[in-house]
Amino acid sequence: MNLTDEIHKRKTFAIISHPDAGKTTLTEKFLLFGGAIQTAGAVKSNKIKKAATSDFMEIEKQRGISVATSVMTFEYNGKLVNILDTPGHKDFAEDTYRTLTAVDSVILVIDCVKGVEEQTERLMEVCRMRNTPVIVFINKVDRDGRDPFDLLDELEKKLNIKVRPMSWPINGGREFKGVYKLYDKSINLFEANKTKISKDVVRIDDLNSPILDELIEKDADKLRHDVELIDGVYGEFNTDEYLEGTEAPVFFGSALNNFGVRELLEKFLEIAPFPQPRQSSDRIVSPEEIKFSGFIFKIHANLDPRHRDRIAFLRVCSGKFERNKFFHHVRLNKDMKFASPFTFMADSKALLEDAYAGDVVGLYDTGNFKIGDTLTEGEDYMYKGIPSFSPEIFKELINLDPMKSKQLEKGIEQLTDEGVAQLYRQEPGNRKFIGTVGELQFEVIQYRLENEYNARCRFEPRQFFKACWMTGEKQAIDDFCKFRHKNIVKDKDDNIVFLAETSWILNTAIQQNPKITFHTTSEFKI
Ligand code: G4P
Repeated sequence: MNLTDEIHKRKTFAIISHPDAGKTTLTEKFLLFGGAIQTAGAVKSNKIKKAATSDFMEIEKQRGISVATSVMTFEYNGKLVNILDTPGHKDFAEDTYRTLTAVDSVILVIDCVKGVEEQTERLMEVCRMRNTPVIVFINKVDRDGRDPFDLLDELEKKLNIKVRPMSWPINGGREFKGVYKLYDKSINLFEANKTKISKDVVRIDDLNSPILDELIEKDADKLRHDVELIDGVYGEFNTDEYLEGTEAPVFFGSALNNFGVRELLEKFLEIAPFPQPRQSSDRIVSPEEIKFSGFIFKIHANLDPRHRDRIAFLRVCSGKFERNKFFHHVRLNKDMKFASPFTFMADSKALLEDAYAGDVVGLYDTGNFKIGDTLTEGEDYMYKGIPSFSPEIFKELINLDPMKSKQLEKGIEQLTDEGVAQLYRQEPGNRKFIGTVGELQFEVIQYRLENEYNARCRFEPRQFFKACWMTGEKQAIDDFCKFRHKNIVKDKDDNIVFLAETSWILNTAIQQNPKITFHTTSEFKI
């Protein structure tokens, strides 16, 4: 198979959702279709159990298990599907954001009872920043959920994206009868079945046909009315708009009952983009370029003292990755080869000989990588678009053992390279502020500093609301930094960051400094 065929065959995506909407269940059903697993329940270990939310060691153990299933690959209808797993736990949201930089599209799962939830909004913001194509799956239609039109309105408003229903639920909850596929005018009748894959589809070329009344009885008129309304309100589905990330096709179904999943998967395979060109610091790199390139989007450190290895996740962007071939580590300006790269196949790691754009390769790492690092076949560009997002919780790192300050420095430097948290330094005084999305990371840092670097620390909460990167007129920024020097720090790349205490303070700063633009992500600079 030539390079173009390899690329066109691949679909690399992530399933994202607010916890409990059904991401794990849907992933599992996809794998069942793809034959990658044989029984339901096989993917459950992938999920961080709710009961363990306050115990980070327990979560780490589960994360360790989930490394093996970080990327799930299967073939379906001649396509090679790579599903990149994202942690459901809120405290690991940064991991999810970074994973989104490595996919070409996403499927967003929404719970039809709950609608758009907080984490969904944030995840969609990240998708929109990168114009990632999104397909929405409204799940749990077997439950008494919200009115589908209301849900669509909410999706448009809260997620700031045009939607287009592709299938439509016939009644809901206990009265749920099935879905009408708008794109090929057929009905799938519901038969609650958690293991068997239902194939019964009835074609209804004319909705006025009495067959419809026979099939769904009293719901037939409502469906006719709904479809008329849909055709009036929502225009034709436009694949180009979907690929540009401005329009999201919406499917309804029940992942648990394996209902509506096949339609979703098949439509996804038909319309989702294959590996796309990517912006680098120099130019746009096409996946079909002969020369290999890729970037690290995630680093997983094992906390188990018996296996203290780090795994770097490499997304291949162009050319062909090969085992034992020298590649150029751009940031370190060093050539490296990898003797035992691996794929993340089901529950075992398989040695990998080669990989193409869209694939994810696991590399054992002894501290050479940090997130965003680029490997090439000699060129010096770096891949763009690995943003830092403003953390939500800020604490100051206090060294408890002045004799060990070197260890502490090195430890915190390495941990933040892995993406555990963000580090901001303040001069003078070498104060260090740590920013995270969740409380758990502080426990992780404290534990790892002590166990891996022999350094002890404690954290003091700091009431900051947002970290803001700044662009604009140099003089204006200099003046602002002088005036607000107590709140000015530098991030790991030496960018100036303003730590605003409250939203009011931030808004005032924005109003009073029209020559400065304040950004809550670092994306603008790359
Ligand atoms: P997540 O990965 O997004 O966090 O969600 P997950 O798939 O684990 O699903 C969360 C809960 O919702 C699970 O129940 C799951 O069985 C249920 N669920 C998923 N899809 C559907 C659906 O289509 N209909 C209904 N009624 N429920 C669905 P749980 O009790 O929390 O877990 P479990 O004991 O079933 O594993």
